[in-house]
Amino acid sequence: MNIETKISLSRAETFQDQDAVHEIFSELRKEDPVAWCPETEDGSGFWSITKYDDIQFVSKNPQLFSSDRVHGGITFPSQETRRLRNISRSKGVQSKFKDLNILEAGDSMIQMDPPIHTKHRHMVAPGFSPKKLSNLTPHIRERCVDILNQLEGRGECEFISSVAAELPIQMLAELFGVDQEDRTKLLEWSNVIIGGDDPDMRLDTDHVVTALTELYQYALDLHQKRREEPGDDLISMLANTEVEGKLTSINDYISAFILLIVAGNETTRNSISGGVLALSQHPEERQKLLKDPSIISNAVDEIIRWVHPVIYMARTALEDVELRDKNIKKGDRLVLWYMSGNRDEDKWEDPFSFKVTRDGPRHLSFGYGQHLCIGWRLAEIQLTVCIEEMLKRFPDFEVKGEVKRMRSNFLNSIKHMNVHYSG
Ligand code: HEM
Repeated sequence: MNIETKISLSRAETFQDQDAVHEIFSELRKEDPVAWCPETEDGSGFWSITKYDDIQFVSKNPQLFSSDRVHGGITFPSQETRRLRNISRSKGVQSKFKDLNILEAGDSMIQMDPPIHTKHRHMVAPGFSPKKLSNLTPHIRERCVDILNQLEGRGECEFISSVAAELPIQMLAELFGVDQEDRTKLLEWSNVIIGGDDPDMRLDTDHVVTALTELYQYALDLHQKRREEPGDDLISMLANTEVEGKLTSINDYISAFILLIVAGNETTRNSISGGVLALSQHPEERQKLLKDPSIISNAVDEIIRWVHPVIYMARTALEDVELRDKNIKKGDRLVLWYMSGNRDEDKWEDPFSFKVTRDGPRHLSFGYGQHLCIGWRLAEIQLTVCIEEMLKRFPDFEVKGEVKRMRSNFLNSIKHMNVHYSG
Protein backbone atom coordinates (compact mmCIF):
# COMPACT_ATOMS: atom_id res chain seq x y z
CA MET A 1 0.00 0.00 0.00
CA ASN A 2 1.36 3.40 -0.87
CA ILE A 3 0.71 5.14 2.40
CA GLU A 4 2.56 8.26 1.31
CA THR A 5 -0.21 9.33 -1.02
CA LYS A 6 -2.92 8.76 1.59
CA ILE A 7 -1.83 10.32 4.81
CA SER A 8 1.21 11.83 6.48
CA LEU A 9 1.74 10.05 9.79
CA SER A 10 4.62 12.26 10.86
CA ARG A 11 2.46 15.39 10.81
CA ALA A 12 0.76 16.53 13.99
CA GLU A 13 -2.33 17.87 12.19
CA THR A 14 -3.09 14.43 10.68
CA PHE A 15 -4.08 13.19 14.14
CA GLN A 16 -6.79 15.83 14.57
CA ASP A 17 -9.03 13.47 12.60
CA GLN A 18 -8.62 10.25 14.55
CA ASP A 19 -11.22 8.32 12.55
CA ALA A 20 -9.24 8.90 9.37
CA VAL A 21 -6.04 7.74 11.05
CA HIS A 22 -7.76 4.63 12.43
CA GLU A 23 -8.98 3.83 8.93
CA ILE A 24 -5.42 3.95 7.59
CA PHE A 25 -4.10 1.87 10.47
CA SER A 26 -6.81 -0.76 9.88
CA GLU A 27 -5.74 -0.94 6.25
CA LEU A 28 -2.07 -1.17 7.18
CA ARG A 29 -2.68 -3.95 9.73
CA LYS A 30 -4.44 -5.93 7.00
CA GLU A 31 -2.30 -5.18 3.99
CA ASP A 32 1.10 -3.94 5.07
CA PRO A 33 1.72 -4.29 8.81
CA VAL A 34 5.39 -3.37 8.52
CA ALA A 35 5.07 -0.45 6.11
CA TRP A 36 7.81 1.85 4.88
CA CYS A 37 6.75 5.52 5.17
CA PRO A 38 9.14 7.67 3.16
CA GLU A 39 7.90 10.88 4.60
CA THR A 40 9.59 12.42 7.62
CA GLU A 41 10.42 16.07 7.46
CA ASP A 42 14.13 15.37 7.11
CA GLY A 43 13.39 12.92 4.28
CA SER A 44 14.76 9.80 5.94
CA GLY A 45 11.51 7.84 6.36
CA PHE A 46 10.49 5.22 8.91
CA TRP A 47 8.82 1.82 9.28
CA SER A 48 5.25 1.91 10.59
CA ILE A 49 4.66 -1.04 12.92
CA THR A 50 0.93 -1.47 13.38
CA LYS A 51 0.28 -5.03 14.68
CA TYR A 52 0.16 -5.84 18.40
CA ASP A 53 2.60 -8.79 18.23
CA ASP A 54 5.16 -6.86 16.19
CA ILE A 55 5.04 -3.90 18.59
CA GLN A 56 5.70 -6.32 21.46
CA PHE A 57 8.52 -8.02 19.54
CA VAL A 58 10.31 -4.74 18.83
CA SER A 59 9.76 -3.46 22.38
CA LYS A 60 11.20 -6.54 24.04
CA ASN A 61 14.36 -6.71 21.91
CA PRO A 62 16.38 -3.61 22.82
CA GLN A 63 19.54 -5.37 21.59
CA LEU A 64 18.02 -5.10 18.08
CA PHE A 65 15.93 -1.94 18.42
CA SER A 66 17.39 0.93 20.38
CA SER A 67 15.71 3.74 22.33
CA ASP A 68 19.00 5.57 22.74
CA ARG A 69 18.98 9.27 21.92
CA VAL A 70 22.30 8.86 20.14
CA HIS A 71 20.60 6.68 17.50
CA GLY A 72 17.49 8.85 17.19
CA GLY A 73 15.56 8.34 20.43
CA ILE A 74 11.89 7.66 20.92
CA THR A 75 10.13 10.44 19.00
CA PHE A 76 10.43 12.07 15.65
CA PRO A 77 11.42 15.60 16.42
CA SER A 78 8.86 17.85 14.79
CA GLN A 79 9.78 21.23 13.44
CA GLU A 80 8.51 22.73 16.68
CA THR A 81 10.61 20.46 18.89
CA ARG A 82 13.59 21.47 16.78
CA ARG A 83 12.59 25.09 17.25
CA LEU A 84 12.59 24.57 21.04
CA ARG A 85 16.03 23.00 20.86
CA ASN A 86 17.36 25.83 18.76
CA ILE A 87 15.94 28.39 21.11
CA SER A 88 17.52 26.66 24.06
CA ARG A 89 20.86 26.54 22.28
CA SER A 90 20.98 30.01 20.88
CA LYS A 91 19.15 32.22 23.31
CA GLY A 92 19.73 33.34 26.89
CA VAL A 93 18.97 29.98 28.51
CA GLN A 94 22.23 28.48 27.35
CA SER A 95 24.36 31.40 28.40
CA LYS A 96 22.80 31.39 31.85
CA PHE A 97 23.44 27.68 32.36
CA LYS A 98 26.71 27.37 30.52
CA ASP A 99 27.38 23.72 31.17
CA LEU A 100 23.97 22.53 30.13
CA ASN A 101 22.25 21.92 26.85
CA ILE A 102 18.50 21.91 27.26
CA LEU A 103 16.50 19.04 25.73
CA GLU A 104 19.62 17.75 24.05
CA ALA A 105 22.59 16.86 26.15
CA GLY A 106 21.07 14.87 28.98
CA ASP A 107 19.85 11.31 28.98
CA SER A 108 16.80 10.11 30.81
CA MET A 109 16.09 6.41 31.21
CA ILE A 110 13.44 6.38 28.48
CA GLN A 111 16.19 7.16 25.94
CA MET A 112 18.70 4.59 27.19
CA ASP A 113 19.25 0.94 26.40
CA PRO A 114 20.16 -1.86 28.82
CA PRO A 115 22.34 -2.36 30.80
CA ILE A 116 22.65 1.34 31.70
CA HIS A 117 18.88 1.83 31.41
CA THR A 118 18.25 -0.89 33.97
CA LYS A 119 20.54 0.79 36.49
CA HIS A 120 18.84 4.16 36.14
CA ARG A 121 15.41 2.58 36.36
CA HIS A 122 16.31 0.75 39.56
CA MET A 123 17.22 4.02 41.21
CA VAL A 124 13.71 5.47 40.98
CA ALA A 125 11.76 2.20 41.14
CA PRO A 126 11.29 2.45 44.94
CA GLY A 127 9.23 5.60 44.30
CA PHE A 128 6.66 3.38 42.55
CA SER A 129 6.72 0.34 44.86
CA PRO A 130 3.37 -1.30 45.71
CA LYS A 131 3.79 -0.17 49.35
CA LYS A 132 4.47 3.41 48.37
CA LEU A 133 1.48 3.43 46.01
CA SER A 134 -0.87 1.84 48.51
CA ASN A 135 0.14 4.56 51.01
CA LEU A 136 -0.58 7.18 48.35
CA THR A 137 -4.02 5.86 47.41
CA PRO A 138 -5.98 7.53 50.27
CA HIS A 139 -4.27 10.84 49.42
CA ILE A 140 -5.28 10.47 45.80
CA ARG A 141 -8.89 9.95 46.87
CA GLU A 142 -8.82 12.90 49.27
CA ARG A 143 -7.39 15.16 46.59
CA CYS A 144 -9.89 13.94 44.03
CA VAL A 145 -12.82 14.52 46.40
CA ASP A 146 -11.53 18.05 47.14
CA ILE A 147 -11.25 18.78 43.43
CA LEU A 148 -14.78 17.50 42.74
CA ASN A 149 -16.14 19.50 45.72
CA GLN A 150 -15.24 22.63 43.81
CA LEU A 151 -17.64 21.60 41.03
CA GLU A 152 -20.66 21.22 43.27
CA GLY A 153 -23.68 23.36 42.40
CA ARG A 154 -22.13 24.76 39.24
CA GLY A 155 -23.87 22.45 36.77
CA GLU A 156 -21.00 22.61 34.29
CA CYS A 157 -17.25 22.97 34.16
CA GLU A 158 -14.32 23.06 31.78
CA PHE A 159 -13.17 19.58 32.73
CA ILE A 160 -9.50 19.68 31.70
CA SER A 161 -8.43 22.62 33.84
CA SER A 162 -10.87 21.82 36.70
CA VAL A 163 -10.23 18.09 37.09
CA ALA A 164 -8.19 16.17 34.51
CA ALA A 165 -5.09 18.36 34.77
CA GLU A 166 -5.44 19.04 38.50
CA LEU A 167 -5.27 15.56 39.98
CA PRO A 168 -2.09 14.35 38.21
CA ILE A 169 -0.21 17.58 38.83
CA GLN A 170 -1.16 17.60 42.52
CA MET A 171 0.07 14.01 42.78
CA LEU A 172 3.29 14.86 40.96
CA ALA A 173 3.97 17.72 43.41
CA GLU A 174 3.41 15.21 46.21
CA LEU A 175 5.78 12.65 44.64
CA PHE A 176 8.41 15.36 44.15
CA GLY A 177 7.96 16.46 47.77
CA VAL A 178 7.43 20.11 46.75
CA ASP A 179 4.83 22.67 47.81
CA GLN A 180 1.45 22.33 46.12
CA GLU A 181 1.70 25.99 45.03
CA ASP A 182 4.55 24.95 42.71
CA ARG A 183 2.21 22.78 40.66
CA THR A 184 1.07 25.69 38.49
CA LYS A 185 4.65 26.18 37.35
CA LEU A 186 5.18 22.44 36.78
CA LEU A 187 2.06 22.36 34.63
CA GLU A 188 3.11 25.43 32.67
CA TRP A 189 6.56 23.98 31.90
CA SER A 190 5.09 20.67 30.90
CA ASN A 191 2.78 22.48 28.46
CA VAL A 192 5.70 24.43 26.99
CA ILE A 193 7.56 21.19 26.33
CA ILE A 194 4.72 19.23 24.75
CA GLY A 195 2.54 21.94 23.23
CA GLY A 196 4.90 23.25 20.55
CA ASP A 197 3.00 21.63 17.68
CA ASP A 198 -0.26 23.26 18.70
CA PRO A 199 -0.77 26.85 17.54
CA ASP A 200 -2.92 27.65 20.63
CA MET A 201 -0.24 26.44 23.02
CA ARG A 202 2.87 27.57 21.19
CA LEU A 203 4.70 30.41 22.90
CA ASP A 204 6.86 33.02 21.30
CA THR A 205 10.60 32.66 21.67
CA ASP A 206 10.98 35.04 24.60
CA HIS A 207 8.32 33.19 26.59
CA VAL A 208 9.93 29.83 25.84
CA VAL A 209 13.28 31.17 27.02
CA THR A 210 11.72 32.50 30.22
CA ALA A 211 9.88 29.24 30.90
CA LEU A 212 12.92 27.03 30.26
CA THR A 213 15.17 29.26 32.33
CA GLU A 214 12.73 29.06 35.24
CA LEU A 215 12.43 25.30 34.87
CA TYR A 216 16.19 24.90 34.91
CA GLN A 217 16.66 27.13 37.93
CA TYR A 218 13.88 25.35 39.80
CA ALA A 219 15.29 21.90 39.02
CA LEU A 220 18.81 22.95 40.02
CA ASP A 221 17.67 24.49 43.31
CA LEU A 222 15.76 21.35 44.12
CA HIS A 223 18.79 19.24 43.24
CA GLN A 224 20.91 21.15 45.71
CA LYS A 225 18.29 20.90 48.45
CA ARG A 226 17.86 17.16 48.01
CA ARG A 227 21.61 16.57 47.88
CA GLU A 228 21.95 18.36 51.22
CA GLU A 229 18.86 16.84 52.78
CA PRO A 230 17.59 13.75 51.00
CA GLY A 231 14.05 12.54 51.68
CA ASP A 232 12.09 9.64 50.25
CA ASP A 233 10.67 11.66 47.34
CA LEU A 234 11.42 11.10 43.63
CA ILE A 235 13.72 14.13 43.35
CA SER A 236 15.89 12.83 46.19
CA MET A 237 16.15 9.53 44.32
CA LEU A 238 17.16 11.29 41.10
CA ALA A 239 19.57 13.74 42.73
CA ASN A 240 21.36 11.00 44.61
CA THR A 241 21.38 8.39 41.85
CA GLU A 242 24.73 6.69 41.52
CA VAL A 243 25.53 4.45 38.59
CA GLU A 244 28.79 2.52 38.73
CA GLY A 245 29.90 4.61 41.68
CA LYS A 246 29.35 7.90 39.86
CA LEU A 247 26.70 10.43 40.67
CA THR A 248 24.28 11.20 37.82
CA SER A 249 25.40 14.25 35.85
CA ILE A 250 23.38 17.43 36.11
CA ASN A 251 22.41 17.06 32.45
CA ASP A 252 20.99 13.61 33.05
CA TYR A 253 19.26 14.78 36.20
CA ILE A 254 17.55 17.64 34.30
CA SER A 255 16.45 15.27 31.55
CA ALA A 256 15.02 12.85 34.10
CA PHE A 257 13.25 15.74 35.83
CA ILE A 258 11.67 16.83 32.54
CA LEU A 259 10.73 13.23 31.69
CA LEU A 260 8.88 12.87 34.98
CA ILE A 261 7.02 16.16 34.62
CA VAL A 262 5.80 15.28 31.15
CA ALA A 263 5.35 11.51 31.51
CA GLY A 264 3.70 11.72 34.91
CA ASN A 265 1.32 14.49 34.11
CA GLU A 266 0.12 14.79 30.51
CA THR A 267 -0.54 11.10 29.99
CA THR A 268 -2.59 10.62 33.15
CA ARG A 269 -4.54 13.77 32.33
CA ASN A 270 -5.35 12.38 28.89
CA SER A 271 -6.54 9.08 30.30
CA ILE A 272 -8.89 10.87 32.73
CA SER A 273 -10.34 13.23 30.10
CA GLY A 274 -10.54 10.47 27.48
CA GLY A 275 -12.24 8.16 30.00
CA VAL A 276 -14.90 10.72 30.92
CA LEU A 277 -15.49 11.40 27.22
CA ALA A 278 -15.79 7.68 26.39
CA LEU A 279 -18.27 7.06 29.24
CA SER A 280 -20.27 10.09 28.19
CA GLN A 281 -20.41 8.89 24.58
CA HIS A 282 -21.39 5.35 25.66
CA PRO A 283 -24.14 5.81 28.27
CA GLU A 284 -25.05 2.11 28.20
CA GLU A 285 -21.49 1.25 29.24
CA ARG A 286 -21.54 3.87 32.00
CA GLN A 287 -24.82 2.32 33.19
CA LYS A 288 -23.09 -1.08 33.54
CA LEU A 289 -20.42 0.51 35.71
CA LEU A 290 -23.01 2.29 37.83
CA LYS A 291 -24.89 -0.98 38.34
CA ASP A 292 -21.79 -2.98 39.17
CA PRO A 293 -18.88 -0.87 40.47
CA SER A 294 -16.80 -4.03 40.96
CA ILE A 295 -16.00 -4.03 37.23
CA ILE A 296 -13.98 -0.81 37.60
CA SER A 297 -10.60 -2.44 36.92
CA ASN A 298 -11.86 -3.87 33.60
CA ALA A 299 -13.31 -0.46 32.79
CA VAL A 300 -10.00 1.26 33.55
CA ASP A 301 -8.11 -1.19 31.31
CA GLU A 302 -10.63 -0.58 28.55
CA ILE A 303 -10.40 3.20 28.91
CA ILE A 304 -6.63 3.09 28.62
CA ARG A 305 -6.81 0.76 25.61
CA TRP A 306 -9.41 3.00 23.99
CA VAL A 307 -7.73 6.33 24.73
CA HIS A 308 -4.07 5.38 23.99
CA PRO A 309 -2.77 8.55 25.77
CA VAL A 310 0.61 8.03 24.06
CA ILE A 311 0.15 7.47 20.32
CA TYR A 312 3.56 5.97 19.52
CA MET A 313 7.16 5.46 20.61
CA ALA A 314 10.03 5.08 18.14
CA ARG A 315 13.13 2.86 17.95
CA THR A 316 16.20 2.52 15.72
CA ALA A 317 17.41 -0.80 14.28
CA LEU A 318 20.90 -1.69 15.56
CA GLU A 319 21.41 -4.34 12.88
CA ASP A 320 19.71 -5.67 9.75
CA VAL A 321 16.55 -7.52 10.82
CA GLU A 322 13.79 -9.29 8.93
CA LEU A 323 10.33 -8.51 10.28
CA ARG A 324 7.44 -10.29 8.55
CA ASP A 325 8.66 -10.13 4.95
CA LYS A 326 10.47 -6.81 5.23
CA ASN A 327 14.20 -6.18 5.42
CA ILE A 328 14.84 -3.56 8.03
CA LYS A 329 18.30 -2.11 7.67
CA LYS A 330 20.65 -1.13 10.45
CA GLY A 331 19.96 2.53 11.26
CA ASP A 332 16.34 2.48 10.02
CA ARG A 333 13.78 4.12 12.26
CA LEU A 334 10.68 2.21 13.43
CA VAL A 335 7.51 3.74 14.84
CA LEU A 336 5.46 1.59 17.21
CA TRP A 337 1.87 2.78 16.82
CA TYR A 338 0.19 1.89 20.14
CA MET A 339 -2.94 3.56 18.78
CA SER A 340 -3.06 0.86 16.10
CA GLY A 341 -1.86 -2.11 18.18
CA ASN A 342 -4.68 -1.43 20.63
CA ARG A 343 -7.25 -2.01 17.86
CA ASP A 344 -5.69 -5.16 16.43
CA GLU A 345 -8.52 -7.43 15.25
CA ASP A 346 -6.36 -10.52 15.91
CA LYS A 347 -6.23 -9.66 19.61
CA TRP A 348 -9.68 -8.35 20.47
CA GLU A 349 -13.11 -9.15 19.21
CA ASP A 350 -14.77 -6.05 17.86
CA PRO A 351 -11.87 -3.78 18.85
CA PHE A 352 -13.67 -0.63 17.72
CA SER A 353 -16.36 -1.03 20.40
CA PHE A 354 -15.88 0.47 23.82
CA LYS A 355 -16.86 -2.18 26.38
CA VAL A 356 -16.31 -1.71 30.12
CA THR A 357 -16.63 -5.45 30.72
CA ARG A 358 -14.01 -6.34 28.11
CA ASP A 359 -11.53 -8.98 29.11
CA GLY A 360 -8.60 -9.79 26.91
CA PRO A 361 -4.91 -9.22 26.39
CA ARG A 362 -3.22 -6.30 28.04
CA HIS A 363 -3.38 -3.12 25.95
CA LEU A 364 -0.14 -1.55 24.70
CA SER A 365 -0.72 1.97 26.05
CA PHE A 366 1.97 1.61 28.71
CA GLY A 367 4.43 0.11 26.24
CA TYR A 368 6.00 -3.29 26.79
CA GLY A 369 9.34 -4.84 27.78
CA GLN A 370 12.25 -2.96 29.38
CA HIS A 371 10.65 0.46 29.14
CA LEU A 372 7.19 -0.56 30.33
CA CYS A 373 5.83 2.59 31.95
CA ILE A 374 7.20 2.85 35.47
CA GLY A 375 4.18 4.91 36.56
CA TRP A 376 1.48 2.63 35.12
CA ARG A 377 0.08 1.57 38.46
CA LEU A 378 0.01 5.15 39.75
CA ALA A 379 -1.80 6.27 36.60
CA GLU A 380 -4.33 3.45 36.97
CA ILE A 381 -5.02 4.34 40.59
CA GLN A 382 -5.65 7.98 39.69
CA LEU A 383 -7.94 7.04 36.83
CA THR A 384 -9.81 4.49 38.96
CA VAL A 385 -10.34 6.93 41.81
CA CYS A 386 -11.38 9.73 39.49
CA ILE A 387 -13.94 7.66 37.59
CA GLU A 388 -15.33 6.15 40.82
CA GLU A 389 -15.74 9.56 42.44
CA MET A 390 -17.22 11.14 39.30
CA LEU A 391 -19.81 8.35 39.11
CA LYS A 392 -20.64 8.73 42.80
CA ARG A 393 -20.98 12.50 42.75
CA PHE A 394 -22.14 13.36 39.23
CA PRO A 395 -23.44 10.10 37.71
CA ASP A 396 -25.21 11.91 34.87
CA PHE A 397 -22.10 13.78 33.63
CA GLU A 398 -22.24 14.60 29.97
CA VAL A 399 -19.69 16.12 27.61
CA LYS A 400 -21.30 18.95 25.63
CA GLY A 401 -20.01 21.16 22.88
CA GLU A 402 -16.77 20.92 20.97
CA VAL A 403 -13.98 18.70 22.29
CA LYS A 404 -10.73 20.43 21.37
CA ARG A 405 -7.74 18.18 20.82
CA MET A 406 -4.15 19.28 21.10
CA ARG A 407 -2.41 19.17 17.74
CA SER A 408 0.10 16.36 18.19
CA ASN A 409 0.95 13.00 16.67
CA PHE A 410 2.60 11.88 19.92
CA LEU A 411 0.10 12.54 22.71
CA ASN A 412 -3.62 12.01 22.41
CA SER A 413 -4.50 15.04 24.42
CA ILE A 414 -7.73 16.96 24.91
CA LYS A 415 -7.11 20.61 25.73
CA HIS A 416 -10.70 21.80 26.20
CA MET A 417 -13.89 19.91 27.06
CA ASN A 418 -17.08 21.10 28.78
CA VAL A 419 -18.84 18.70 31.10
CA HIS A 420 -22.42 19.21 32.34
CA TYR A 421 -23.89 17.47 35.39
CA SER A 422 -26.56 17.83 38.02
CA GLY A 423 -25.51 18.01 41.64
C1 HEM B 1 -2.06 6.79 31.53
C2 HEM B 1 -0.89 7.26 31.90
C3 HEM B 1 0.42 6.88 31.27
C4 HEM B 1 0.69 6.37 30.02
C5 HEM B 1 -0.29 6.03 28.91
C6 HEM B 1 2.14 6.20 29.94
C7 HEM B 1 2.79 5.66 28.83
C8 HEM B 1 4.12 5.29 28.81
C9 HEM B 1 4.77 4.53 27.76
C10 HEM B 1 4.08 4.08 26.49
C11 HEM B 1 6.05 4.31 28.12
C12 HEM B 1 7.04 3.42 27.39
C13 HEM B 1 8.07 4.12 26.55
C14 HEM B 1 8.84 3.20 25.62
O1 HEM B 1 8.63 1.99 25.53
O2 HEM B 1 9.69 3.76 24.90
C15 HEM B 1 6.23 4.98 29.40
C16 HEM B 1 7.42 5.03 30.09
C17 HEM B 1 7.59 5.80 31.22
N1 HEM B 1 6.62 6.41 31.98
FE1 HEM B 1 4.67 6.42 31.60
N2 HEM B 1 2.71 6.61 31.11
C18 HEM B 1 1.70 7.03 31.96
C19 HEM B 1 1.85 7.51 33.25
C20 HEM B 1 3.06 7.72 33.88
C21 HEM B 1 3.23 8.25 35.19
C22 HEM B 1 2.09 8.63 36.16
C23 HEM B 1 4.58 8.37 35.41
C24 HEM B 1 5.35 8.87 36.60
C25 HEM B 1 4.91 9.64 37.56
C26 HEM B 1 5.24 7.85 34.22
C27 HEM B 1 6.62 7.79 34.04
C28 HEM B 1 7.22 7.07 33.02
C29 HEM B 1 8.66 6.87 32.95
C30 HEM B 1 9.71 7.43 33.91
C31 HEM B 1 8.89 6.07 31.82
C32 HEM B 1 10.24 5.55 31.31
C33 HEM B 1 10.42 4.13 31.78
C34 HEM B 1 11.66 3.47 31.24
O3 HEM B 1 12.27 3.99 30.31
O4 HEM B 1 12.04 2.42 31.77
N3 HEM B 1 4.28 7.47 33.32
N4 HEM B 1 5.04 5.55 29.81
